[in-house]
Amino acid sequence: MAKKIGILTSGGDAPGMNAAVRAVTRAAIRKGMKVYGIRRGYNGLINGDVFEMNERSVSDIIQRGGTVLYTARCPEFRTEEGMQTAKQKCEELGLDGIVVIGGDGSFRGAADLSERGIPCVALPGTIDNDIACTEYTIGYDTAMNTVVEMVDKIRDTAQSHDRCSVVEVMGRNAGYIAVNTGIACGATEIITQETGYCLDDIAKKMLESRKTGKQHFIIIVAEGVGHSDEIASILEEKTGIESRATILGHVQRGGAPTVRDRVVASQFGYYAVELLDKGIGNKVVGMKDNKIVDFDIKEALSMKKPFEDELYKIARELAF
Ligand code: ADP
Ligand code: F6P
Repeated sequence: MAKKIGILTSGGDAPGMNAAVRAVTRAAIRKGMKVYGIRRGYNGLINGDVFEMNERSVSDIIQRGGTVLYTARCPEFRTEEGMQTAKQKCEELGLDGIVVIGGDGSFRGAADLSERGIPCVALPGTIDNDIACTEYTIGYDTAMNTVVEMVDKIRDTAQSHDRCSVVEVMGRNAGYIAVNTGIACGATEIITQETGYCLDDIAKKMLESRKTGKQHFIIIVAEGVGHSDEIASILEEKTGIESRATILGHVQRGGAPTVRDRVVASQFGYYAVELLDKGIGNKVVGMKDNKIVDFDIKEALSMKKPFEDELYKIARELAF
């Protein structure tokens, strides 16, 4: 009997999720499997919002942001009752496994479902790159390129007005987007939860740079720190330099995925199907030393990701 697998996207969307959906669907069909799309994350399992996919269901999506399977947060799935309903639905459909594309919250759901007898393989899909077991998560590169494009535009007007622009970037509790885009935009300072910050020191640095002819400033703030408006007005008060805050927000989650996101999503998706084909579940697929690897989900969730201290140091050494 042909194997049947399900596929869903869950949590915050990320550019490249569609490329992963395509890869999983096509790789599975090549192996003679049946593939079911599950809409709106774990909600689709609970509500039975599931449809059979064929090779054409994923045509023309590799280049599109968002997720054609839709995504959602599903509080009901976190209850034993919701989990049992989902398990029952999988059994009714005869699913031999599910590929879950999302962040670490979605991975917890995949671990719970695997423990209850439905083998799940999870693929890291989040713009935040905050998943410890992998060097890379689908969506990260596209989001950072969007940030850089936006900050370059903001810099034009900051330059014209001799202003300081405080730009808040996403990353929930992680400063990876902030540090990498900060160095790429030549930001004067990068403020993250991991590194902490001192507004007196930043103001002093700005005034010292002014003496050498620097007229405008870009300060990148990670979402987890927040208070960007307040940071801008405190810096203005301390330096006398007119300051404005911009919160980039959800623009960072959209747009056509970059080459990197399309390639990695395709690799992750292909690998996930290989695992399910061998009957292996309860795994997270990731990247280590540029190679595709896998970990048990609970093991993956217990790992800690180091911060990019060296990159942060270089960014600051170069910005004055
Ligand atoms: P992300 O996957 O991007 O981290 P969330 O943390 O919002 O996003 O999680 C997405 C969904 O995964 C939740 O709405 C819920 O359905 C499921 N989920 C999250 N945490 C758990 C958990 N501890 N146990 C079971 N399911 C969970
Ligand atoms: O996890 C990705 C992310 O974009 C975070 O950086 C951000 O905090 C969160 O999603 C916002 O999600 P939403 O607005 O969809 O609740």
